[in-house]
Amino acid sequence: MAGGRARVAVSILDADHSNMAHAIRRAEREGADRFHIDVMDGHFVPNLTFGPKMIKGIRPRTELPLDAHLMISDPLTFVDEFLDAGCDSVTFHVEVEPAQIEPALRKIRAAGRAPGLAVKPKTPLSALEPYRGLFDIVLVMTVEPGFGGQAFMKEVAAEKILAARAYIDHKPVEGEVQVDGGVNRESAEFVGGLGVDILVVGSVLWIKGRNMGREIRLVRALADEGYQYRLNDGRPPIPRDAMVTFTQLPRHLAWALMAEIEKGGIPVIPLRGSGQFNPDGVRDYDLLVPASAEALAVERHDADRARYAAAATAWREAYIAEFGVKPPETLRPMPGSARPKPSGA
Ligand code: DX5
Ligand code: ZN
Repeated sequence: MAGGRARVAVSILDADHSNMAHAIRRAEREGADRFHIDVMDGHFVPNLTFGPKMIKGIRPRTELPLDAHLMISDPLTFVDEFLDAGCDSVTFHVEVEPAQIEPALRKIRAAGRAPGLAVKPKTPLSALEPYRGLFDIVLVMTVEPGFGGQAFMKEVAAEKILAARAYIDHKPVEGEVQVDGGVNRESAEFVGGLGVDILVVGSVLWIKGRNMGREIRLVRALADEGYQYRLNDGRPPIPRDAMVTFTQLPRHLAWALMAEIEKGGIPVIPLRGSGQFNPDGVRDYDLLVPASAEALAVERHDADRARYAAAATAWREAYIAEFGVKPPETLRPMPGSARPKPSGA
């Protein structure tokens, strides 16, 4: 996975539709972070593309995530098919018939995938308001949906990208603002400076003779540069996958604090690392949080961290009083393992 913050979703809309398997393989080799698949029904937009069957065919050909962007009038009718096809996220348009929106979003979430809502250039972000908390992705369209290769609408990006984050604040780490339409080396720095997470890049990658890998790396680097200098006081962005230790605790307390932190949308990884040994012979667990959410975790849970540390001390003392101290687990010889040779032998 790339360092840095911005990620490129390669749109296959302008790839050779007669040879999608090749297109997927090539883009993956050239460093795509994921795929963006534009589904059009000839009704919501004046164009037709592909459907769930093609996505199902692509699914086993790549391990990269597949984002479906449904430009269709009836997402609720078809959403199950897209979930079944193996999409990692399904984003459809907030301009569809309102009665479909909430049930379709709920289906996506229930399937364990990321639900998203897309907004056309003329649709205000406030259209998302009734569905707050039901979607994890906001896809800001910076062209009229329907075709690749159109010109980037800078004013739309300026108005919406930064503001869109407010709609996914229940997912401080995994929530995504995506920009779609006219994104290339000319617009990447600008949208990066507005904090966009995912840049959908289509037509420029499929131009004959173009070095796709170089283009992808350039777009990512420019977006990170924009972020660093416009939004992050000149500091380089924290890589998306970097984790830091938030605290170390005995297992039962680690699990309890993890649940509290995760309730607020910050994912936690428990690891047995270098923590101290407890009287029951088991090491403290490290609780890791994404580096990008460290400040938020401290802001929310600094007092909890102190409270749990005190609980750990009390638990250790009580354990010793009742059971004494067991030898650390790792020092016990594994069954069947060779005995260490005495030194000098
Ligand atoms: C347009 C699609 C886009 C399209 C972007 O309706 O939603 O995903 O592939 O292509 P470019 O990058 O050429 O604007
Ligand atoms: Zn799209």
